[in-house]
Amino acid sequence: MVILRENSDVPLRPNDPALYERLADEWWSPRGKFAMLHWLAAARAELVPPATREGAVLVDLGCGGGLMAPHLRGKGYHHVGVDTSPSAVRQAAAHGVHAVRGDVTAVPLRDGCADVVAAGEILEHVEDLPRAVAESCRLLRPDGLLVLDTLADTAVCRVLAIGVAERVPGMAPRGVHDARLLVDRAELARECARHGVRLQVRGVRPSLRGVAGWLARRRESVPMVPISSTAVLFQGRGRRTGGDSADVPRAAVEPGHAGPAAAED
Ligand SMILES: C[S@@+](CC[C@H](N)C(=O)[O-])C[C@H]1O[C@@H](n2cnc3c(N)ncnc32)[C@H](O)[C@@H]1O
Repeated sequence: MVILRENSDVPLRPNDPALYERLADEWWSPRGKFAMLHWLAAARAELVPPATREGAVLVDLGCGGGLMAPHLRGKGYHHVGVDTSPSAVRQAAAHGVHAVRGDVTAVPLRDGCADVVAAGEILEHVEDLPRAVAESCRLLRPDGLLVLDTLADTAVCRVLAIGVAERVPGMAPRGVHDARLLVDRAELARECARHGVRLQVRGVRPSLRGVAGWLARRRESVPMVPISSTAVLFQGRGRRTGGDSADVPRAAVEPGHAGPAAAED
């Protein structure tokens, strides 16, 4: 097993939850080790429409430090977060999220409580993907919306998202990902469909012009732009309609959901 270190002499294994305690001070630093999570949170929030009813709830699974909070402001949701990390829950709460400690594979919230479930950069951290998807869908009201982003289980993703990104400051902290847990796109679509959510996906990447501006300190954030391939980083979106769909249409595992996004550069 690869032994990794992050600001400490104590070794960490890949995807070790202790990493989030060590990096607790990094959550809200736009140029820190979680910088790219800020960009992704903004892009994820763009997929969330304004609430259509009083008291609408958005459940943010694996909410981390609550980075979606500023991007959801004004959309009319009660923002509920769930995370295993005590320091992340504290930080999310300090940013206005009703954050609770809990595991995304056994969420301590009732069935159908959510108008929107956001699962941002969490599915590639769980050992039991079907369970996490089942929980995400269980929380949705009928016609509720699931939005997610995650990393694909492909060779190119292992090279770019782990081999390269974990060595570039701001992209991903060293050791945050375990290659074993990268997400099989067909399995994800199948599990969503099983629980009544027909997932549409599209690949995204940081805007190259944006990254150049960020590196030159001309800008604080970087837009994510859509790309044709879902082989590395991808977003997914789907509404809960029914359940136990045996057939997953090809469109559900191929790129193609239309949604707001910056123009590609
Ligand atoms: C890469 S961070 C993403 C945080 C946030 N969604 C964002 O995009 O800014 C992953 C988060 O998931 C949390 N996490 C990992 N495994 C979890 C699990 N099984 N249940 C709940 N939270 C988990 C970690 O503590 C961490 O805060």
